Amino acid sequence: MTLWGGRFSADPREDVALLSESISFDKRLYAHDIAGSKAHVKMLAKQGIIPAATADSIREELDRIRKRIEDGDFEYRVALEDIHMHIESALIAALGAEGARVHSARSRNDQVALDIRLYLRDRIDDLTAGLREFQKALVQRAAADDDAILPGFTHLQHAQVVLFAHHLLAYVEMFDRDRERLLDCRKRLNVMPLGSGALAGSTLPIDREFVCAELGFDRVSRNSMDAVADRDFAIELLSALAIFGVHVSRLSEDLILWCSQEFGFVELGDAFCTGSSLMPQKKNPDVAELSRGKCARLCGDLVAMLTLCKGLPLTYNRDLQEDKERIFDALDTVSMILKVYPPMIATMAIRRDRMREAASDPALMATDLAEKLVELGVPFRDAHHRVGAFVKYCREHGKALDAVPLAEMQQTIPEATEEFLSLFVPENSVAKRDITGGTGYRQVRRQLDFWRSELELD
Ligand code: ARG
Repeated sequence: MTLWGGRFSADPREDVALLSESISFDKRLYAHDIAGSKAHVKMLAKQGIIPAATADSIREELDRIRKRIEDGDFEYRVALEDIHMHIESALIAALGAEGARVHSARSRNDQVALDIRLYLRDRIDDLTAGLREFQKALVQRAAADDDAILPGFTHLQHAQVVLFAHHLLAYVEMFDRDRERLLDCRKRLNVMPLGSGALAGSTLPIDREFVCAELGFDRVSRNSMDAVADRDFAIELLSALAIFGVHVSRLSEDLILWCSQEFGFVELGDAFCTGSSLMPQKKNPDVAELSRGKCARLCGDLVAMLTLCKGLPLTYNRDLQEDKERIFDALDTVSMILKVYPPMIATMAIRRDRMREAASDPALMATDLAEKLVELGVPFRDAHHRVGAFVKYCREHGKALDAVPLAEMQQTIPEATEEFLSLFVPENSVAKRDITGGTGYRQVRRQLDFWRSELELD
């Protein structure tokens, strides 16, 4: 007999139970479900809704159930649908009528809203800690080669010379915003929904503020209908995780390019790569590729959650049960990436010679010539035009920009001086970008100092 058996003369069909069950995935909420129930019965006793002795035995039994679950000594049955009914049934099996008092003034609708919020608080704490580790790995890797230079790209075309550390620190910024988004989401979800009942609250004199304090929430929810129907905290979470996925995917793409034969800028540790079953020479950057691929799942999880909530009438609808697999999938995916990526960054070897060679393409310094002309008083648009004409001249004559004598350069750039010939040294080009946010050596060291103190490194 089901827990709602009173009104029914038949149990659900077997295939209906299979469609209906969520125990196969929501069992991971057990600890939070139990924590919520313990706070709930403590409040019920304080309010005189159940006897104090009953509350004590329920709380003790909940601890035993928790231990049984952790010891693998707990039977899951599809017929009991979800984790909430499993635990309530186990209580009733152990305590009889006393156990049957646990669900007073509560519905699974506010219960699941509570459980998932409790669960997400913990998971978000793990994720933000993981993001910190990721940032640390990037900062340390950047600091270890803080003067290595390489070409920076726009449109995947050589653009201007930058420091390798500057490039990595760009991702540290992105992951910091990802962390902030998660913390912000945590703030908004830290609201206590229990007491909202099925949708309309309860006729029993419960003390919601007590439960709120017991469970460490910031406040109780103001509207019972909102509290059981809303999943926008899940949408926010999945959106933050999808954005993180996009960031990791872009980092992955950089690494995949950098370790290709064409670039040859980095070599990833063997433990983070795989070989080919056919081609003996291959070493493939699978971790980076899979992380890039997993971004698709994270985006899919977000879209599924948005679609799930779209058009649902108030309040709770069973559709909402579908939230959990998307949430868990995204959390697990990101946790896995956060485990694997930092050590891959930490052990990544760089080929400074290959980077330097690529950075010595004199075309990367064309902007420096134009800016030198601006210093000499030439309006920027004219300067741009002259240097453009110089680049065109060099291309047409098959000459490198730095292989042209001054007199010849002056045919297209009349204002050019001796000094122009020294502008093709990539180290100088980097050094001169000495403004806040620029890639200059001094500025990148400032960024590193900032992150070292922010991340409490060394
Ligand atoms: N397993 C359900 C879920 O995950 C719990 C709430 C069920 N409520 C209900 N009225 N059937 O959403």
